[in-house]
Amino acid sequence: MNVHAVPSQNVPAARLPAETEWLLEHIAQNRFLPQPPADSIFVGDGDFQAIGAEFLRHFVTLGGLRRSHRVLDVGSGIGRMAVPLTQYLHPERGSYEGFDPVLDGVMWCTTTITAAYPRFRFQKLDVAHALYNPGGVVSGVEMSLPYADASFDFVVMVSVATHLPADELATYLREISRVLAPSGKLFLTAFVLDERARTTEGRDARLGFARDGEGPCWFANPQAPLAAVGFDDGFIDELLHTSGFDIGLKSLGHWRGVSAEHYQDVFVAMKRGGRP
Ligand SMILES: C[S@@+](CC[C@H](N)C(=O)[O-])C[C@H]1O[C@@H](n2cnc3c(N)ncnc32)[C@H](O)[C@@H]1O
Repeated sequence: MNVHAVPSQNVPAARLPAETEWLLEHIAQNRFLPQPPADSIFVGDGDFQAIGAEFLRHFVTLGGLRRSHRVLDVGSGIGRMAVPLTQYLHPERGSYEGFDPVLDGVMWCTTTITAAYPRFRFQKLDVAHALYNPGGVVSGVEMSLPYADASFDFVVMVSVATHLPADELATYLREISRVLAPSGKLFLTAFVLDERARTTEGRDARLGFARDGEGPCWFANPQAPLAAVGFDDGFIDELLHTSGFDIGLKSLGHWRGVSAEHYQDVFVAMKRGGRP
């Protein structure tokens, strides 16, 4: 076990102020929010709006996202996280930047979201990925994010570490730490191969993870390793620690067959260096 591995925690039942609760419920029920055409959604199965609303709730209850935050969305896809955030972030004080290697997603977001919400901005970064962007010119390991130091309060990385090799994840966590303000938060989802997840009982049958050599990566499909990547328990904890974060929450998801409020595993990590 790595020295900075933290035990998983039960998710505290967060009690939100009534007006925040009302707002989240209102966003989840809002049938007027834009959705991309079904055949252009490349970010996974499931109800686009329901998943976005679910994550917005997690950002607020588990991560402490505030309406005034400056948000960075790493791997913004086709706006699944951004659409509900348009209804939550404060129109003058909040802001959002998203980037992704897939141009179609960035274009849909720009024409649909930025046109109505100019404080939501998207860009394509041509980072190579075997499945999402095979012709990309920048290696993820050498990636430097095009944002100033300490320019964000809250970074989300949902269902992206589940498609990255270990060395790229390390680069991203270092870069995210750089662009986060002290005490800023990272909300990260992943597949953690703890003891329970290593047994097949109850686990999502699509995720037949096998360890790649000595680890830390586990691949569900050796023919397409980046289709679903898991990590040895403790690996992400250690990376977060060495990248300048303290882990505030490590909550294991129900993909492994335990009861949980979310499917993938969730880390909420705080950038060190803020006021004690
Ligand atoms: C499963 S999708 C999740 C998208 C989005 N976060 C969401 O939850 O809707 C994975 C995303 O990661 C993006 N991606 C792949 N490689 C990436 C990289 N090296 N850096 C940033 N994003 C990447 C893909 O293009 C895709 O949009």
